[in-house]
Amino acid sequence: MNWALIGVGNIAELFMQSLIWVEEVNVVAAYGRNKERLHRFCDRWGIQNRYTDYTALYEQNDIEVVYLATPHIVHYRHAVSALEHGKHVLCEKPMAMSREETRMLSEAARQNDVFLMEAMWTRFFPANIWLQKFTESGRFGRPLNVNAEFSFAYPYDPDYRFFRKDLGGGCMRSAGIYPLAYASMIFGCVPCRISAFGEMRNGVDVRTTAILQFPGEHGRTAQLYTGFQGQSQCMANIAFEKGNVLIPDFIHPSRVIVTDLDGHREEMLFPYEGPGLHYEIRHAMECIRAGHKESEIMPLEESIEIAGITDLIYQELEKAKGNEVN
Ligand SMILES: NC(=O)c1ccc[n+]([C@@H]2O[C@H](COP(=O)([O-])OP(=O)(O)OC[C@H]3O[C@@H](n4cnc5c(N)ncnc54)[C@H](OP(=O)(O)O)[C@@H]3O)[C@@H](O)[C@H]2O)c1
Repeated sequence: MNWALIGVGNIAELFMQSLIWVEEVNVVAAYGRNKERLHRFCDRWGIQNRYTDYTALYEQNDIEVVYLATPHIVHYRHAVSALEHGKHVLCEKPMAMSREETRMLSEAARQNDVFLMEAMWTRFFPANIWLQKFTESGRFGRPLNVNAEFSFAYPYDPDYRFFRKDLGGGCMRSAGIYPLAYASMIFGCVPCRISAFGEMRNGVDVRTTAILQFPGEHGRTAQLYTGFQGQSQCMANIAFEKGNVLIPDFIHPSRVIVTDLDGHREEMLFPYEGPGLHYEIRHAMECIRAGHKESEIMPLEESIEIAGITDLIYQELEKAKGNEVN
């Protein structure tokens, strides 16, 4: 299957490294604004066709699917054009900057009869696939609470996109989407109440805690933490009615610890090779080959809802403004 890359930065590099574990895949073209950077990347990976105009890339007929690896502020623009050119799209997270943009992309995929998926790569790791099946099996009853955290220390730089509102900065969209998507995966529904607290700097959130309540008799909840400050353990802990599941490093997990109410503890290992993007890439290719227009594991409706929850979290943070540093 012929792929093209839109963007040749950090995640595009991991994408290329992951292809050793994917069969029948060719990256035949790439787009980047900076010519020198683009050529360096393409020389290193043997990519033949290089474009500084993405619409020109989309005119190349033998390209079947594009991987969007540009910053999220430009995802909508890059994705909608790809879909209108009849290309299948695997789009980095977050797929767009709002619920409405995400909904419009989903609609554009439907109208152009092509595949579209948000690249929520964590969901496709064997340990997380196991967790989805375990949750569905009901062995531990219903999930009651998800506690998930992902933060890393990134030096404050008001010119870097993480800290610039006009470039789509803020930790909730960049990093907090992982714990949020995890809670969404476990509960499989939209929360009925949302609270959010955080620290704003330069007009963007640099540390955010969100508390979500999901509908149901038990008032099921999630506490999510994210930030560009401090280094979290990147853990997810799920309290079920009949036990607990702990996933250390839930974004790329290789270990799951299951403890029942009697304290019996079982540790399971799910080793993987390389950066781990190959699971989502293989899945996208299987869907496209089967003629599916979206994924059952990362459906478009869920991407739309996750974007909507993110919008509401940002509204909550706006309301709580006043603790801005500058
Ligand atoms: N890094 C990660 O570990 C990671 C993990 C998962 C998901 N993601 C997601 O992947 C996306 C890209 O992240 P990244 O870390 O790879 O970013 P990056 O290293 O900054 O790379 C971004 C790429 O897009 C190009 N670009 C930047 N601004 C652009 C614009 N306004 N219009 C067109 N092209 C632009 C850049 O090259 P030029 O400036 O030369 O055009 C570069 O090729 C983000 O949405 C992020 O959330 C990243």
